[in-house]
Amino acid sequence: MSFRIAVIPGDGIGKEVIAQGLRIIEAATARHGGECDFTTYDIGADRYLRTGEMLPESIFSELRQAGAIYLGAIGDPRVKDPRYAAAILLRLRFELDLWVNLRPARLITTELTPLKDVNSIDLVVVRENTEGAYAGIGGQFKRDTADEVAIQEDINTRKGVERIIRYAFTLAEERRRSGVGKGRVTMVDKSNALYHAHDLWQRVFAELRNQTKGIEAEHLFVDVAAMQLVKDPSRFDVLVTSNMFGDILSDLTSQLVGGLGLAPSGNINPDSRRGLFEPVHGSAPKHAGKGIANPLGAILSGALMLRHLGAEPAAAAIEDAVDAAVRARCTTRDLGGELSTEAAAEAVLERLAPKNEQ
Ligand code: NAD
Ligand code: IPM
Ligand code: MN
Repeated sequence: MSFRIAVIPGDGIGKEVIAQGLRIIEAATARHGGECDFTTYDIGADRYLRTGEMLPESIFSELRQAGAIYLGAIGDPRVKDPRYAAAILLRLRFELDLWVNLRPARLITTELTPLKDVNSIDLVVVRENTEGAYAGIGGQFKRDTADEVAIQEDINTRKGVERIIRYAFTLAEERRRSGVGKGRVTMVDKSNALYHAHDLWQRVFAELRNQTKGIEAEHLFVDVAAMQLVKDPSRFDVLVTSNMFGDILSDLTSQLVGGLGLAPSGNINPDSRRGLFEPVHGSAPKHAGKGIANPLGAILSGALMLRHLGAEPAAAAIEDAVDAAVRARCTTRDLGGELSTEAAAEAVLERLAPKNEQ
């Protein structure tokens, strides 16, 4: 198998973790008889500050053609334009219609959770990724005056809500069949306050909840979901929620299992099979250039990408190697180890099982 992968290292630690992720992806695919054809694009703050371009059309049309996109992070304190992330990252999510944002959180060892008496966490946040408060609809009126008005609309379409909730049920069923899931979908909204927008989520959830046999469907308001995630994270399996709540809850769930440095994500369109894979974290400017960023979130995002591309053995091999490296405490400082970014990736590389040993 050969994979055509567009790479956007981006900004800050994005560049450092993607460099390591590429080594692991390449080694894992080679050991399982595949081949990667990477094309790297210098999209990011350096380019913007040099040329004024955020995401040129010629590059955008090449990204459309890629088998998958592998991205580090977008964000740089030197860029003052607040539309910067929207012009690159959100544009790719929206215009490629990557409507599922998958953000799994799995506890590799109990030492990594800040919670007491928690033995297992294995959940996935399914975040709606193409609408909600992120749709960019709104405006400013009488800007920079005492009478200023700022409006940002929360867009919820029946099509958008239906496809993401349906996806959550399908994922819960797959997870239950493969033995990892508990057979539960938790729909998280704020319909008691947002009684126009999130009432739509309620009605769609009521329509779809009985269509998947054997999957328990529960509803939590987002405030209580945040509380329950801290109180008893083991009870969660698949959480489905809106774009903004998914953004917030997935930083929370990542800390439950070790922190942002370890959290992977996939932005996927299950119909077109397009996908963009990136760690949940951002460019962490204060850590950039020091060689201390944890590469595991980027590496695990690479595993999600290979799984999406059909290379399951290579994906599973990467995840197993990451688990083994973490258990051996061969990690960066954020996970309690003392390795550099490069050495932490090396520790994963050493543990990637060659094909004939599997
Ligand atoms: P951040 O995720 O970049 O970092 C927050 C903190 O988490 C860091 O200070 C660090 O302590 C820790 N952290 C994150 N990743 C780590 C890693 N790999 N290893 C070790 N520790 C890690 O969030 P922020 O500081 O709010 O955002 C910085 C910039 O990144 C902003 O411009 C923001 O908009 C952008 N951002 C981009 C993305 C993305 O591209 N997907 C995601 C989040 C934030
Ligand atoms: C993420 C990030 C982005 C988001 C920002 C950079 C726009 O926080 O991918 O989680 O909010 O989706
Ligand atoms: Mn975020």
